[in-house]
Amino acid sequence: MRIGILGSGLMGGKLGTIFTRAGHDVVFSYARSEEKLSQLARDAQGKARAGTPADAARDADALLLAVHWSRVDDVLKQAGDVSGKVIVSCVLPMSMEDSELVVAHTSSGAEVLAQKLPGTPVVSAFGTVPSEVLFGVFVARHKPNRPSMVYCGHDESAKQVAAELIRDTGFDPVDLGPLRLARYAEPFTLLMGQLAYEAGDDPAIAYRFERFGE
Ligand SMILES: NC(=O)c1ccc[n+]([C@@H]2O[C@H](COP(=O)([O-])OP(=O)(O)OC[C@H]3O[C@@H](n4cnc5c(N)ncnc54)[C@H](OP(=O)(O)O)[C@@H]3O)[C@@H](O)[C@H]2O)c1
Repeated sequence: MRIGILGSGLMGGKLGTIFTRAGHDVVFSYARSEEKLSQLARDAQGKARAGTPADAARDADALLLAVHWSRVDDVLKQAGDVSGKVIVSCVLPMSMEDSELVVAHTSSGAEVLAQKLPGTPVVSAFGTVPSEVLFGVFVARHKPNRPSMVYCGHDESAKQVAAELIRDTGFDPVDLGPLRLARYAEPFTLLMGQLAYEAGDDPAIAYRFERFGE
């Protein structure tokens, strides 16, 4: 696939590198320096290049949205017409100082994003994972017991694209259902982040669900 990265920081930089190494064509965009984007493209060691958000969006099969909540409007404006493209969003709707979710309980960042982009399928994915684990999961992708990752959205073919990217990264995709399920995934992520970063230890937290019933 051709994948445009909108936001090439911790999440976009790492996931764009992983997508490149998994064989996709990647355009890194949206950082404060062009040199950083070029460096990411060189280091990705595959079919990757640096570009503007409009370059990333042009001909993209999927766009990874990976900017702070406060930068969403700006990067989408720079990307231009994204109608019909699959948007995979890992964005958490955080306040400026990253202390709380500004949308939760009755809506989610993913649903607000979808309202901004009528006609563009949005899938919420990757937001539940701390960027620190991504390369480790990718390196271990051929081992048994791959970790699961939830994703949700309305459009089935867009969800298949997201599931493929989740698989390529080394996770087993778990379909949560419609986009409104992001209302539960986003606060869950905040809980894990609070535990990891405010406990004073490193973010090596393990959590596990037992499967009940079948
Ligand atoms: N980090 C995580 O572990 C994690 C986990 C789950 C979800 N998320 C979510 O993923 C999203 C991205 O998080 P992140 O940690 O990857 O953030 P980040 O490292 O700050 O990346 C954001 C990108 O936006 C760029 N940017 C910011 N302001 C800009 C401006 N004015 N002009 C151009 N580029 C600008 C940054 O440029 P520079 O590279 O130059 O700084 C960076 O490349 C957030 O919504 C976050 O809630 C993050």
